[in-house]
Amino acid sequence: MSLWQGRFKEGTDRLVQEFTSSIAVDRKLYKYDIMGSIAHTKMLAKCGIISSKEANKIIQTLEAIQKDIQSGRLTLDGKEDIHLGIEEEIIRRLGKTGEKLHTARSRNDQIALDERLYLRDEIGQILDLIVDFQKTHFHLAKCYSEVILPGYTHLQYAQPILLSHYFLAYFWMLQRDKERLKSCLERVNVMPLGAGALAGTSLPIDRDYVADLLDFPKITENSVDTVSDRDYLLEFLGASAVLMMHLSRLSEDLILWSSSPFGFIEIRDAFATGSSLIPHKKNPDVAELIRGKTGRVYGSLMSLLTVMKGLPLSYNRDMQEDKLPLLETVEIVRESLRIYTQMLKNIRINAEQMEKEAREGFFASTDLVDYLVQRGVPFREAHQLLGRIVRHCLKTERRFEDLSLEEYRRFSSLFEKDLFERMKLEECVFTKESAGGTGKRSLKIQMELAKQRLEETI
Ligand code: ARG
Repeated sequence: MSLWQGRFKEGTDRLVQEFTSSIAVDRKLYKYDIMGSIAHTKMLAKCGIISSKEANKIIQTLEAIQKDIQSGRLTLDGKEDIHLGIEEEIIRRLGKTGEKLHTARSRNDQIALDERLYLRDEIGQILDLIVDFQKTHFHLAKCYSEVILPGYTHLQYAQPILLSHYFLAYFWMLQRDKERLKSCLERVNVMPLGAGALAGTSLPIDRDYVADLLDFPKITENSVDTVSDRDYLLEFLGASAVLMMHLSRLSEDLILWSSSPFGFIEIRDAFATGSSLIPHKKNPDVAELIRGKTGRVYGSLMSLLTVMKGLPLSYNRDMQEDKLPLLETVEIVRESLRIYTQMLKNIRINAEQMEKEAREGFFASTDLVDYLVQRGVPFREAHQLLGRIVRHCLKTERRFEDLSLEEYRRFSSLFEKDLFERMKLEECVFTKESAGGTGKRSLKIQMELAKQRLEETI
C-alpha cells in the first residue's frame, strides 16, 4: 500500500508500480533527500508545527536511515521513489511521529530541492576539475613556448603557431565553460521547499529558515514556477554540452596528432589501448570515448528540452524523466575531465616532427603579403601578387626560399634582400605581435592573463 492510497478502492497494478517507479535512478539522491528532510523537520519544530521532541526523534531516525542506506542494509528496492522510500521507512520505524515528517511539503517541491542540492555539490566538483585541467594546459603552454607547429584552418596547413598558443586556446575555452557553470550555479542555488504541490501552504512555515539551514542565499519567489520549471537543469546540460564539445575537439586533435601521417604526439602506454587483432596497434581510445560520450550529453540536453516543451503548468510526472539525463551528464562530465587531465599529462610531444611539418609548404605567404603592405602596396594587390609567386613556385617545383631576389623583383621591385630573413619560420611566428597573437611578446602577456584567471577563486 502506498502512502497516497487513501482515495483508491484497489491496489496498484504491478505493471503500473514498476513503470512509474524511479527508485533505480533517484536513489542516488538519498543523501540530499535526507539533508532536506532534516532541515524541513527543524523548521517545523521552530515554527511550532511539530514538537521539538518529535523533531529530534525524526532527525535521529533520518540519520539512522542514512547510515543504513550507505552501508547497504537498507536497499529501498521496489519503492516508488526516493522520497516515498525514505518516508515509508521512517513511518515503519516511528509510527505516528514519522507521519508528521511530510507536513507542509509535497514531493513536487522535495524533488526540486534534492536536485538543486545535488547539482550544487556536483557543479562545485566539476569547477575544481576544470581548474585542474586548465592548470595542465597552462603548464604545457609554459613548457612548450619554443615549439612551433603548423596551424590549420579547414584542416589545411595555414600559418605556423607556437604550441603554447594552441594549448592556451583550450585554456580560454575552459575558462568560459567555468564561467557558464558558475553563472548557472547562481540559478541552481535557490531554495524551493515550501512551494508545496504548487500553491504554497496555509501552515505557518519559515522558508528563509530552511534556506539558512541548507546554506541557500535565497528562496524561490513563486510556488507554481518552483515546481514547474527545470531551466536550471537545462542550463547545466547546455553548459555541459558546450564543455564536452570542447573536450571532443581536443580529442579530435589528439587523435589526428597521434596518427601516423602526423606523428606530432605519442600517448604513453598507460593511457592508450591495443587492438585484439592487430598486434602493432596502439589506439587513442580514451580520447575517442570522450568524443563519443559527447553525443550522449547532447542527447541528454535534447531529451530534457523535449520532455519540458509541451507541459502545462505546473508539475507533471513527465518531469521524473529529468533524472537520468542529469545524473548521466554529471557522471560523464566529471569522469571525462578527471581522466583527460591525467591523459594530457601523459602525452609525449614530438617537437621535431611538428617543426618539420611547420616548414612544409608556403607557410610564409601571409608574411610576405605583410612585407609588401608595410612598403605601401594595397593589401589586395599584395595578396594577388603572392598568389602569382606561389603559382610560379608550384610550376617550377620550388619553395619560397629557392627563388632568387631577381625572380622576386620581377614580381615587385619593392622586394629587398631582407625578404629572406622575413620568410624564416621563426620570424613568421615571432612577428605576430598583435594582442592575442602567437608572437613571443603577445604570448607572454597572454600567459600573464591566464595566470591571473587561475589565481581567482572559483
Ligand atoms: N519521483 C517524482 C519525480 O521525480 C517525485 C515527484 C512526484 N510527484 C507526484 N506528484 N507524483 O518527479
